[in-house]
Amino acid sequence: MTSPVWTARVLTLFPEMFPGPLGHSLAGKALEAGIWALETVDIRYFASDKHRSVDDAAFGGGPGLVMRPDVIDAALAAVMGAAGPDRRSADAGPPIYLTPRGRPLTQERVRALAAEPRITLLCGRYEGVDERVLEAWQAEEISVGDYVLSGGEPAAIVLLDACVRLLPGVVGDAKTLAEESFEGWLLEYPHYTRPQEWRGRPVPEVLASGNHQKIRAWRRAQAEATTRQRRPDLWARYRAQQAVMEG
Ligand code: ADE
Repeated sequence: MTSPVWTARVLTLFPEMFPGPLGHSLAGKALEAGIWALETVDIRYFASDKHRSVDDAAFGGGPGLVMRPDVIDAALAAVMGAAGPDRRSADAGPPIYLTPRGRPLTQERVRALAAEPRITLLCGRYEGVDERVLEAWQAEEISVGDYVLSGGEPAAIVLLDACVRLLPGVVGDAKTLAEESFEGWLLEYPHYTRPQEWRGRPVPEVLASGNHQKIRAWRRAQAEATTRQRRPDLWARYRAQQAVMEG
């Protein structure tokens, strides 16, 4: 029996935006190799009125249009295989709605999503999606950062890219991933390659020393200094983690 490939379903008004960047490089090769599958669903297909409308004015006024709950519901029901008010089959996790109002995406959440057999992403446009359909499907709301994109599609691409590189066989060198999770609370140390001197700037001497213990210590010190300067939030977590480990 072959295990089914990790599958992403994306509900969008712009299916032509996919696979987009995910059709290239690591993710693209993995897609071609059948390590993961991408299914796009055109939300407009589920519009039922004669104008095929998917959005309408906001109750209470204000600018912008809101995506209709009945249309989104029909699209979700078609891909998630359920039609009752409790709205989803047992083997499917809740749909993920990409929105700046969501919980910030973390590597930890990415790891968990990459371990599911399939995920369903809902991309909104305009001012968003009617709240009731999100409630009815118990959608998980995820943000990819504290800035506003013109729609959920670029956010979905970010989320999928982060998941796909964790699938077995996508990143060639398993050590790369292992190191990432080992150093998980720190930003990366800086990297250098040839030429050893470029525009009067030499590569840090220790890196050419061949002393692996010294190199490890130098990289760790660099990662710590950069994290402390740039990301006090990560630094505080790292220090707390260290304190726990040192008992
Ligand atoms: N849609 C618009 N902006 C977004 C963001 N920052 N994260 C997720 N979805 C979005």
